Amino acid sequence: LHPVASEIGSSASLASLRGQAIDCQMCDLCGPATRTVSGEGNPEASIIFVGEQPGDQEDLQGRPFVGPAGQLFDRALKEAGGNRAEAWITNAVKHFKFVPRGKRRIHQKPDSTEMAACAPWLAAERKVLSPKVTVMLGVTGASAVLGRHVTVSRERSRHIPLEDGSIGLVTVHPSYLLRLPDEESKTREYTKFVTDLRMAISTLA
Ligand code: URA
Repeated sequence: LHPVASEIGSSASLASLRGQAIDCQMCDLCGPATRTVSGEGNPEASIIFVGEQPGDQEDLQGRPFVGPAGQLFDRALKEAGGNRAEAWITNAVKHFKFVPRGKRRIHQKPDSTEMAACAPWLAAERKVLSPKVTVMLGVTGASAVLGRHVTVSRERSRHIPLEDGSIGLVTVHPSYLLRLPDEESKTREYTKFVTDLRMAISTLA
């Protein structure tokens, strides 16, 4: 069974966190979802990216950011001079929340109870990794890391000091870019997103 937050050892490795999270039943999302989708990447990463929750493809494949939003993220990260293999990629919530509609599963935003239930996993991951920079992708990732409600448009694109002395940076979620209605705003917002990622990466130098 899921360990209570205080039992997720401070000496836990990323591998043991993944093992413990497999059976997480701290909220109701574990029922309908296929599996827990833990963070992945370079255990020595000095930059970590925190999204919202796995989507349909992530739930099926068991890896974060591998669906359409993930592919856009990978492209933008490369363009910003980054490299997914050197980073750690994770989510605020580790189970896919959805409502079935015909054959499709429609994404639902996690609520504050689900975010709170999942918070110990992200906290433990961040403690083990101790990254120099935490990039928060969208409102859920940002609110989970900062522990308060975040308005992305107000807080994006600048360094935010985090409690452990490291640096945070808020930007939009790549799925926001996918939802934009016209090519002009897509291009404009994508460029801003790449600029934010470049800013985060440049703090590592
Ligand atoms: N959106 C997220 O926030 N995370 C994923 O892993 C995929 C899509």
